[in-house]
Amino acid sequence: MPIPKAELHVHIEGTLEPELAFTLAERNAITLPHPTIDDLRAAYSFTDLQSFLNLYYELMTVLRTPQDFTDLAEAYLTRAAAQGVRHAEIFFDPQAHTNRGIPLDTVINGLTAALDTSHQRHGISTTLILCFLRDRPATEALHTLHQARPHLHHITAIGLDSAELGHPPEKFTHVFDAARAMGLRCVAHAGEEGPASYIWQALNLLKVDRVDHGIRCLEDPELLAHLASTQTPLTVCPLSNVRLRAVDTLADHPLPALMDAGLLVTVNSDDPAYFGGYVHDNYEALRHHLGLDDTALRQLARNSFTASFLPTERRAELIAEVDAHPTT
Ligand code: HPA
Ligand code: ZN
Repeated sequence: MPIPKAELHVHIEGTLEPELAFTLAERNAITLPHPTIDDLRAAYSFTDLQSFLNLYYELMTVLRTPQDFTDLAEAYLTRAAAQGVRHAEIFFDPQAHTNRGIPLDTVINGLTAALDTSHQRHGISTTLILCFLRDRPATEALHTLHQARPHLHHITAIGLDSAELGHPPEKFTHVFDAARAMGLRCVAHAGEEGPASYIWQALNLLKVDRVDHGIRCLEDPELLAHLASTQTPLTVCPLSNVRLRAVDTLADHPLPALMDAGLLVTVNSDDPAYFGGYVHDNYEALRHHLGLDDTALRQLARNSFTASFLPTERRAELIAEVDAHPTT
């Protein structure tokens, strides 16, 4: 069994495997622009974040009923359990559904029908992170936040995702202030394609508890030193970075440099159905392509719990499980 770990950066819509997409398309009488699974798979060749997002938003239109969202979450949990995941903080994109007429209740009730029993059935504790689409207006994000009020017992944090360039974190300062006042924690994608200044904005204006991706912090020594001294976690996604061409090859990935600089780095899958692997596949890729040894991989597994929003006691229990685990 793979080493126990938390997954802190996974978009539930990005776990939609082509086979399930076709099943749901048929169930909902939707015709996809790709006639066969092989045609669809041929479209999984991305040149940048936007080229991926185009397919991601297109395919998620097969998700229509609560049962569709339950089936999606259940398929993810089954795969995550086989990858050693013991705790998952799962992103979802409400506006990507409400903007095409799917009620927020359908999305959240569908997802939580699977998540609520995940601990008993899969040994995985879960929570949701509500992400705002940064390429949509801030007023729409604020409306979404208020719509989510009845569901806050399922939601630990808010996040910020979608097309990064041209949509700096500062655009959402007042939305993040409002969420914090509601007792929510804050994370944001920053420094995936965007510059180091977006990471500074996420820290100083959005006051995030974690930075998602954040790999471009290496371009700013002062930022690197700040992230090391505050131990603000980064949720790094190696296979995603290669598939979206933020990094040329796995062998060039900056993860070892980030660890050497003393940052609290975690490894995650992002959109595993699109990027060629789930979270343990990312750990294995680091072993094979970057030569990370058992000690480093074990540290990454410990970091995943340290960086989570779990209560201190549960974090300590899970870190003890990592230490007691015979293999990485
Ligand atoms: N980056 C930004 N937005 C996203 C991603 C990503 O990797 N996946 C889904 N939405
Ligand atoms: Zn992401």
